[in-house]
Amino acid sequence: MKVLSILSQKGGVGKTTLATCLAVAAEADGKKVAIFDLDPQATASFWLDVRKEEKPAVISVQSVRLPSMLKAADDAGTDIAIIDGAAVARDVTFEASQVAHYVLIPTKTAVFDTMSMIHTIEIVRQQNKPFSIVLTFVPPVGQETIDAITTIGELNAHICPVHIGNRKAFFRAQSEGKAVQEYEPNGKAADEIIRLYKYTCIQLYKEREDV
Ligand SMILES: Nc1ncnc2c1ncn2[C@@H]1O[C@H](COP(=O)(O)OP(=O)(O)O)[C@@H](O)[C@H]1O
Ligand SMILES: [Mg+2]
Repeated sequence: MKVLSILSQKGGVGKTTLATCLAVAAEADGKKVAIFDLDPQATASFWLDVRKEEKPAVISVQSVRLPSMLKAADDAGTDIAIIDGAAVARDVTFEASQVAHYVLIPTKTAVFDTMSMIHTIEIVRQQNKPFSIVLTFVPPVGQETIDAITTIGELNAHICPVHIGNRKAFFRAQSEGKAVQEYEPNGKAADEIIRLYKYTCIQLYKEREDV
């Protein structure tokens, strides 16, 4: 079983959105998936309630129980566990990156968002975990994206080549308990998620390589 952690100590950067959309993409790819929801606000769990489907499984869990819950998921034949992190909580980020094979750190491009991303990078680096930064809510044009790429480059952090645009389809899909690729299969957001899924699989299943 592979463990993908989606972490940022900043709220509202797209962790739960990426976790749910990537989970649905992995299910469509024939994988057995479980989302581990570490957020006390339980957004991913609410998403599943609205979804009225059993898949992907969403398990609301406290981070101290992660190792035993992951083992149970592995024993049950899960292929990919996706951990949806929580804002602010440093210990949650630490424990979720400890168990990860790969970490995605979503960030908005605004300067205060890239600043708070630095704390998450530090924690993931302490544990020597491979990670990449995923730019989210990316505006169609603007200096922010260039500035964010420069900031991340200065930190010697890897930037995911797939950027996630600022698109209404994400919250519209979420409010119906769907992933964007179910809500609007031919839309730009769906295309971004599918490309992010492929990129993530390369990172999870091969030795680390820059794409
Ligand atoms: N790329 C995006 N473009 C527009 N809205 C988005 C995008 N990603 C997420 N959202 C919306 O922003 C809000 C916060 O996203 P969420 O995934 O819950 O963030 P987090 O889990 O990091 O707190 C949600 O309403 C979600 O639908
Ligand atoms: Mg969330």
